[in-house]
Amino acid sequence: MAQLWGGRFTKETDKLVYNFNASISFDQRFYAQDIKGSIAHVMMLCKQGILTEEEKKEIIAGLEGILSDVESGKLEITDEYEDIHSFVEANLIERIGDTGKKLHTGRSRNDQVALDMKLYIRSEVRSLEGLVVDLLRELLTIMKGHVDTIMPGFTHLQKAQPITLAHHMGAYFEMFKRDHQRLKDIYKRMNTCPLGSGALAGTTYPLDRAYTAELLGFDGPTLNSMDSVSDRDYLIELLSAMSTIMMHLSRFSEEVIIWNSNEYRFVEIDDSYSTGSSIMPQKKNPDIAELVRGKTGRVYGALMSLLTTMKGIPLAYNKDMQEDKELVFDALDTTKGCLALFTGMMATMKFQTANMRASSEHGFTNATDAADYLVNHGVPFRDAHGIVGRLVLYCIEKGIALDDMSMEEYKAISPVFEEDIYDAISMETCVEKRNTLGAPGPEAMKQVIDIYAKYLEEC
Ligand code: ARG
Repeated sequence: MAQLWGGRFTKETDKLVYNFNASISFDQRFYAQDIKGSIAHVMMLCKQGILTEEEKKEIIAGLEGILSDVESGKLEITDEYEDIHSFVEANLIERIGDTGKKLHTGRSRNDQVALDMKLYIRSEVRSLEGLVVDLLRELLTIMKGHVDTIMPGFTHLQKAQPITLAHHMGAYFEMFKRDHQRLKDIYKRMNTCPLGSGALAGTTYPLDRAYTAELLGFDGPTLNSMDSVSDRDYLIELLSAMSTIMMHLSRFSEEVIIWNSNEYRFVEIDDSYSTGSSIMPQKKNPDIAELVRGKTGRVYGALMSLLTTMKGIPLAYNKDMQEDKELVFDALDTTKGCLALFTGMMATMKFQTANMRASSEHGFTNATDAADYLVNHGVPFRDAHGIVGRLVLYCIEKGIALDDMSMEEYKAISPVFEEDIYDAISMETCVEKRNTLGAPGPEAMKQVIDIYAKYLEEC
């Protein structure tokens, strides 16, 4: 057990306690960030005259050596160390001797871990943004190809009005666009540097915090040392943003599962994204969509866990906060994996457009348009609603669609109907007439597609 402390202790730590307390098994993820932060700290200590130029060079060379040895696999991170900070410092001292003992001057593991985590999360937020943009690009490609693909739109999972596949995909584009913006917001808000906050109360050394903040690409240093070492808000924001991404992916997965079902057959998930059954030879299952839906619970769980962990912690640092890491890492791995797989599934999925079209024709998705026809011929909407309700009832009894009714049958229910009713309630008319901004009509859709294309150009 290589520890950074021990002077005031007369006994060895119990082995179980050591293991319970240790974080090396998971915080080794940010070894590169730990080293990067240390290099910036050492450069600042030298600039401030706290370390000599010689000492700075020696320490930085040692740290860079550790980094490249870990990266090449020459140096293994083992659980002989309590955490990644101890691992780096102990290795440094082993390599360069006593000068290495000066690295931790004016620093605590509390501000060190706060920095490491921020550096790590900052790049993870960027990579999440990239994965969301990949999905947005895929959605836009589908939209461009299906402005005229008519399908039923649903409310209460009952056929409601005809829409287009482009319009349906556009709804998800909006959701993931908001997710993308949320991630960018989080990045902006979290981008302040906690290094130099010490254990909780800063330090007596004349540190230049603005300098380290700049070296590490932050907008500036944090302004309260107690908050700096105990702020986990940005992780909660990130878990919340990831929960929302997963909620969107889960809703989308649910639709893909329904669309891929034997009853709907709106889509066919590619063989490469499907799985089979060990007993039923005919099966091709949408396991990937189901797993994405299922894993949503795990990311919500991480959000609730961290909120609960943080709720009773007095200022400033407390060890409870170490719990942030496994939760956030797992949620990140899960969300990133789900985003990538979902995009791949969408890119390879086949849209059964003929089935979509046929389905929109059955289920009276044009009933609203029939009522609008009457309104355009002077019938008050409430009366028109009642007349079309009677038409629907008549059709259900006969097992036909509104389009299948003869002119005589129409006239028998209302004399207002003329020959042009057939054109007024065709699926094409129903969609084409809906051209208010945000609606499925092709004119409106093209306008929105242009806006989305511009958005993606700026990503
Ligand atoms: N492993 C710790 C964490 O993740 C690092 C900070 C330890 N600080 C301390 N005072 N014990 O929070």
